[in-house]
Amino acid sequence: MNKQKLIKKFDKQSVIYEENTRKRMMGSWRKRLLEGVQGDVLEIAVGAGANFPYYDMDRVRLSAADFSPMMLQRARRIADELNLQVTLIESDIETLDFPAHSFDCVVSTLSLCGYDDPEQVLRNIKRWCKPNGRVYLLEHGLGRNPFFKSAQRLLNPVARKISGCNWNRDIEQIVRNSGLQIEHMERHWNGMIHLIWARSV
Ligand SMILES: C[S@@+](CC[C@H](N)C(=O)[O-])C[C@H]1O[C@@H](n2cnc3c(N)ncnc32)[C@H](O)[C@@H]1O
Repeated sequence: MNKQKLIKKFDKQSVIYEENTRKRMMGSWRKRLLEGVQGDVLEIAVGAGANFPYYDMDRVRLSAADFSPMMLQRARRIADELNLQVTLIESDIETLDFPAHSFDCVVSTLSLCGYDDPEQVLRNIKRWCKPNGRVYLLEHGLGRNPFFKSAQRLLNPVARKISGCNWNRDIEQIVRNSGLQIEHMERHWNGMIHLIWARSV
């Protein structure tokens, strides 16, 4: 899908993402995932700042990127309300670049579904991480049940058109192919939701 169209789609959805942020949606997973995050941190596809309540700002210097200006406006509002310092970057993650070894930690939640080439995004993240950097992922993808998986594959074109998200991605395989080393993984909701703690090595 054309990127400008995709940006407009996410701009329109930003009101829902702000509401979900205020409701602390998926809060227990986010809290647990982000417990060890510290140092120079990059969050990609930040949306309306759903993870902001879970960063320990005494230990984190945060930069966060998204290509949707409306999402970023809402993320700024949430950050101000929480008194959280964050550098917001308006950019397509797939064209964004940083020098190698820029970050101690990189965070991505519900973002690998959106990119044309999620494996390349993870390869870039691996390069941006300092040696032995940590990568924290909360992603949805194909579940475990074969019937459910077929439905996800069948409905993928509709899901992509309506929400901008792909439902048919094998998240574990994508992460392994990128060269990141998975240290710990949990799967929930019939295996659809992946919590992954990885290292750049
Ligand atoms: C499903 S939302 C998740 C938002 C947030 N990370 C969360 O956990 O609620 C996907 C986000 O990715 C952003 N996004 C999708 N593709 C992108 C791209 N290529 N570059 C930058 N942001 C992108 C969208 O604007 C949206 O904010």
